[in-house]
Amino acid sequence: MCGIVALIGSREAGPQLLEGLRQLEYRGYDSAGIATVDPDGLHCLKAEGKLVNLIARFEAEGAPGHCGIGHTRWATHGKPEERNAHPHLDGSGQLAVVQNGIIENHRPLREGLQAEGVRFLSDTDTEVIPHLVARRLAHQETLGAKPSPALLLQAVREVLPGLHGAYALAVVWSRVPGALVVARRQAPLLIGLGEGEFLCASDTPALAGFTRTILPMEDGEVALLTPLGIELYNASGERVQRTPSLLTGTEHMADKRSFRHFMLKEIHEQPETAALWVARHLPEDALVALPLDESVYAGVENIQILACGTSRHASQVGAHLLEQLAGVPTNVFYASEFRYAPPPLRPHTLTIGVTQSGETADTLAALAMERERSQGLADPAFAPRLLGITNRPESSLGRLVPHVLDIGAGIEVGVAATKTFLGQLLAFYGLALAFAERRQGQPGVPDLASLRRLSSQLRGLPAVLRELVEDHDARCAELAHLFAETRDVIFLGRGINYPIAMEGALKLKEISYIHAEGYPAGEMKHGPIALLDSRVPVVSIAVPGMVFDKVLSNAQEAKARDAQLVGVAPACPDSELFDLLLPLPPVEELLSPLLTVIPMQLLSYHIAAHRGLDVDQPRNLAKSVTVE
Ligand code: M6R
Repeated sequence: MCGIVALIGSREAGPQLLEGLRQLEYRGYDSAGIATVDPDGLHCLKAEGKLVNLIARFEAEGAPGHCGIGHTRWATHGKPEERNAHPHLDGSGQLAVVQNGIIENHRPLREGLQAEGVRFLSDTDTEVIPHLVARRLAHQETLGAKPSPALLLQAVREVLPGLHGAYALAVVWSRVPGALVVARRQAPLLIGLGEGEFLCASDTPALAGFTRTILPMEDGEVALLTPLGIELYNASGERVQRTPSLLTGTEHMADKRSFRHFMLKEIHEQPETAALWVARHLPEDALVALPLDESVYAGVENIQILACGTSRHASQVGAHLLEQLAGVPTNVFYASEFRYAPPPLRPHTLTIGVTQSGETADTLAALAMERERSQGLADPAFAPRLLGITNRPESSLGRLVPHVLDIGAGIEVGVAATKTFLGQLLAFYGLALAFAERRQGQPGVPDLASLRRLSSQLRGLPAVLRELVEDHDARCAELAHLFAETRDVIFLGRGINYPIAMEGALKLKEISYIHAEGYPAGEMKHGPIALLDSRVPVVSIAVPGMVFDKVLSNAQEAKARDAQLVGVAPACPDSELFDLLLPLPPVEELLSPLLTVIPMQLLSYHIAAHRGLDVDQPRNLAKSVTVE
């Protein structure tokens, strides 16, 4: 949550900071601000609401200086108002701080500062930091220290151990306009190295237009940036040198092309996501080829998957595949719950963290806890075995786990995850095939011939998806007006399509603000059926296979209560029961989630767009949730 940028160099910082914030706006967009420093002092501008409001202020008032910091906010502590927008200043107005994360002990720190007479201007947790740093600076000055980059660095380093929680932060001080101090603990921060200038940001899109040479900061590191170079210190306070890496490809740039919204563009990119996946991992001469070490598979007896939101829905489909195709008992946990009620450790367990951003605090914390829980045990059967599935292998997840499966979907800007969901599904198909290949002969594992048939059907997926996306885009656009007054929608699915019903409901909720429930179709009659009447549409996913007749019966039960039935099903005599049909091409049940999710995404998109809502930046949300 929240995006931070910081720049020091030879050109005006303001425009570059604003451009960086534009690229990070997906991380939060309820207010924004920048602070620059020049020999005249500190210039701070803030605005409530979207970044355009801050840009308007900058154009009217300016903020000179070659060094500065910026922030785009997703509120945690304090309402989304201008006074709570970052940067936050010390009492003298000379020192400014932006922060992404949560300072968990901000309350006692604030009380201590207030007791010393410090006046707070915001309700944020962050505001304690500039006051604490200013206090350290003042103390050093009473001992004779002169303002210098080293003094600023020292003051920040003295304050950091007293901050509890996760943070990435940047600090400027108008008394040393040629210095910038940045630090991170459990929140992302990367330094971009330009020619005689450095840009620091929460994520690569803010850096990609500036430089391709990046230095991701490690947990606990602090850096002093001046126009002359970088001084980097590790968590133990030792000076470290590291070789920067190169950003490759164009996937780090956010570009809407001719689409009205990023979300629509990203839905349309799914055939390409699938084509890339197939080209990389489903070669003609192999069942599947994943770039994973054999140690990921060897001797695994159980799998547990930790994820949140849409990634959790992909994981539920994954669990179905790992159990039904590969015969490995698999459990999926809400990462946010796992930490506080973990199941007893089991031997030979593979733990998979699934997060498209690789920065979801709940998922990272659950994985870290699982690693620590098993690390201390003498029995090697309990040795931690961690795999990450992500769209951002360079993220914090990539640094936390030893094995990573990159879904390679390219940057996703829309807050509602679409192509990364498809990428996660494909990763699970690949993983289940890879396990099944290695577990031939074990109970419940299909033979190689059946697996090859699945693999070859997957190779045909991109073409099927291309047609499906085009067709349903047009259909859903036409249907959207029918939901103009809708307040509640129920999504039903069974078996492998139950998670897709959940995903359909989540997509609709987050971008259209319509209340929606995803339910296992057979559970309707145990309670939720009481909600149904002619004003509550029911979207029913019915794919020929094991549960087809059951789902149709459940749909009939809804129709008998006057519900408007929307079917996501093949056009066939059975589907005549639906009032509206979003037709599916023939598909094997086991592969169907890769198709059934498309109408879910497009229906939600067009309903929200028809209502004139901000599809890419829905209220109260952010793309990566870096707070617990
Ligand atoms: O980056 P992650 O995949 O870990 O994100 C998890 C959820 O926050 C995310 O899927 C969220 O539910 C999306 N907004 C769904 O569209």
